[in-house]
Amino acid sequence: MSTEVRTDAGRLWSRLMDMAKVGATSGGGSNRQALSDDDQAGRDLFIEWVQQAGCSIELDGVGNLFARRSGTDPDAPPVVMGSHLDTQPTGGRFDGVYGVLGGLEVIEALNDASVSTRAPLEVAVWTNEEGSRFPVSMMGSAVWAGVSDLDSIRALTDRSGVTVGAELDRLGWSGTAAFGKPLSAYLELHIEQGPILEASGSSIGVVTGVQGIRWFEVTFEGFAAHAGTTPMDRRRDPARALADTLHGVYELAAADADRVRVTPAQFASEPASPNTVPSKVSFTVDMRHPDAAGLDRLEAALRSLVAEAADQHGCGHRIDVINDCAPVVFDPRCGGAVEAAARLCGFAFEHIGSGAGHDACHVAMRAPAGMIFIPCQDGLSHNEEESIEPDDAGRGADVLLHAALELAGVADDTANAGRTTEC
Ligand code: GLV
Ligand code: MN
Ligand code: MN
Repeated sequence: MSTEVRTDAGRLWSRLMDMAKVGATSGGGSNRQALSDDDQAGRDLFIEWVQQAGCSIELDGVGNLFARRSGTDPDAPPVVMGSHLDTQPTGGRFDGVYGVLGGLEVIEALNDASVSTRAPLEVAVWTNEEGSRFPVSMMGSAVWAGVSDLDSIRALTDRSGVTVGAELDRLGWSGTAAFGKPLSAYLELHIEQGPILEASGSSIGVVTGVQGIRWFEVTFEGFAAHAGTTPMDRRRDPARALADTLHGVYELAAADADRVRVTPAQFASEPASPNTVPSKVSFTVDMRHPDAAGLDRLEAALRSLVAEAADQHGCGHRIDVINDCAPVVFDPRCGGAVEAAARLCGFAFEHIGSGAGHDACHVAMRAPAGMIFIPCQDGLSHNEEESIEPDDAGRGADVLLHAALELAGVADDTANAGRTTEC
């Protein structure tokens, strides 16, 4: 007798759709910004599902949640699958959510087939991956991995001055589980968020690593003056310094379009009055490059553009690095397990680097980590119209299932006897 273990693509899809109703936006996406009431409601739904699946739950001090299905070896560290349930303000329905509910689907498929693993399996929900409300992305995994310390993260504020710490306490997310516990492996299933798999027709991306990401907050200080009476050549206008900097930043990307990504965003000015030359302008710049030296070169170029623009327009300036994630290369054994799972299931796959940041980047500092991508429509993400095919979602979950089984080991017991690893 052979037991085919497969995920249930229909069940996964209906869970994805149910989760998308929490914080649904008028444009068909989701808005569950980190540590908001909707983020809590999404978690409550997830907790209900994992408890029905027989998992136990623990929370650490930054609200990272781990749902655990026991293995047969009490001493084996868990194989953790996961991602995030928080979204961008106008986010899609799949970014992050897919990796969390894919992990749950793996557990349910194993329950259905009465398959035990040697190592426990866990599904992680990392806190504030997006960094849009509290501007540190991959925040929960950064604290878990020891990249950021809890006290400084608790002190971070959103735009209305509410701290991470106050929200963690209000929601009851300040748990006691240890940070950085040993893991056998970490696997994150995610939509690609870019156009590569769709163009090549591959169902599965075996992710080799993630490019470097650095965020800056740039501030120009000028001098407030009357918009109608102040001659143009007597102004110290930080908006002009902004304009020159933006021009230079986009030129950096144009000079190396294959590798460089630059995204100026979050613009603010003071006093923000239409008929006053601003006294202050600030904005963020997200810069990405596949290698560390390239990212350093981008930073140096930004710094000189900002200094020149400030000088040119008589402004003061300041640059703060607010997020920094070095390029990551994933563990070859995890990549090998993902590749073997894709082969076993007969799915077309390719190796691919990630343009987006993921919690797996931080986990990789502590444990063997890998990622699985599936295609998304038009490579679109961080947009309410983000979309995937249900069949692709099912294929990714099957690959996660078989890679997790490979890394956790199938228990040698009666229920598992005769099980094959066919898809
Ligand atoms: C994650 O959302 C990123 O900014 O890459
Ligand atoms: Mn994500
Ligand atoms: Mn995202």
